[in-house]
Amino acid sequence: MKKIIIDCDPGFDDSIALMLAYGSRAFDIRLITTCAGNQTLEKISKNALKVLEHLGIDDKVYMGAEKPLMKALEVAEDVHGESGLKSDILVSDTKKSPEKNGILKMYQEIMSSDENVTIIATGPLTNVALLVSSFPDVLARIECITLMGGGIHKGNVTKYAEFNIYTDPEAAYIVYNCGAKINMLGLDVTHKALINGDVIDRIRKIETKGSKLFIDIYNNNKEFYEKHTNLPGVPVHDACAVAFEIDRGLFEVEELNVDIEVKDLERIAMTKLVDMEKAQTVSVSMDIDFEKFVNYLCEALENLN
Ligand code: RIB
Ligand code: CA
Repeated sequence: MKKIIIDCDPGFDDSIALMLAYGSRAFDIRLITTCAGNQTLEKISKNALKVLEHLGIDDKVYMGAEKPLMKALEVAEDVHGESGLKSDILVSDTKKSPEKNGILKMYQEIMSSDENVTIIATGPLTNVALLVSSFPDVLARIECITLMGGGIHKGNVTKYAEFNIYTDPEAAYIVYNCGAKINMLGLDVTHKALINGDVIDRIRKIETKGSKLFIDIYNNNKEFYEKHTNLPGVPVHDACAVAFEIDRGLFEVEELNVDIEVKDLERIAMTKLVDMEKAQTVSVSMDIDFEKFVNYLCEALENLN
């Protein structure tokens, strides 16, 4: 099985990504690390533990960076709530505590692995940037970095910038230029992974811990998208990054030379197209077979009981 590390900031869609990763049974999940993004590091890490506890998964959660490399942290409370994961069925608090030194743990896990490790990043790229900057020798042991972030023709914080990149543009610049293979699941594709009533009706029939949690956090998070976007459903952005590593055939991918804007303040955090010699080639997903995606999601939720 593919060895993966999931670096996340749960968050509604990060939680779906975790459920898809665990329920798919497609991975040897070596490590869960958290970074500040949707909410503070403390809240994010508690949310990750609460999701795993609800699912009866005893894995540890390791905390990484508590703030972006240079910017102040700007959380997404409007989307994910004061707790970072609005829910009616998750315990209000967990008895478990997250571990520290998540970035060192990422390094140790990758270097001790007998095969290269895939990093799936579903939050700001602060932890991944610190990993490859602090320990350059790790690059040779990273299979690829598959990330939810950016958008070639879309933004959701500004018209140019998507939240994960916007939260820490300097970290994204480091990661996109570190030399590791980057697979980008940006808004171009995640705005086509939209959960609507028909999908919810199908998931409601599954009746497992996983499906009940999915319905719960969907119901608690759909209001933002209904009020503030004209999307015909709720995008499960982060689950696309996990789905990419389950079955790349789900996606239509373009090989593009992408860099991160870190100077022009109007276009800050833009995942911009540049000339070939100015940036590495990134595999950018532009479309998804949503029906097959939902099939994988439902299979995963059926396994989470
Ligand atoms: O723009 C979407 C991304 O920002 C997702 O990762 C979501 O969890 C938020 O972090
Ligand atoms: Ca996220």
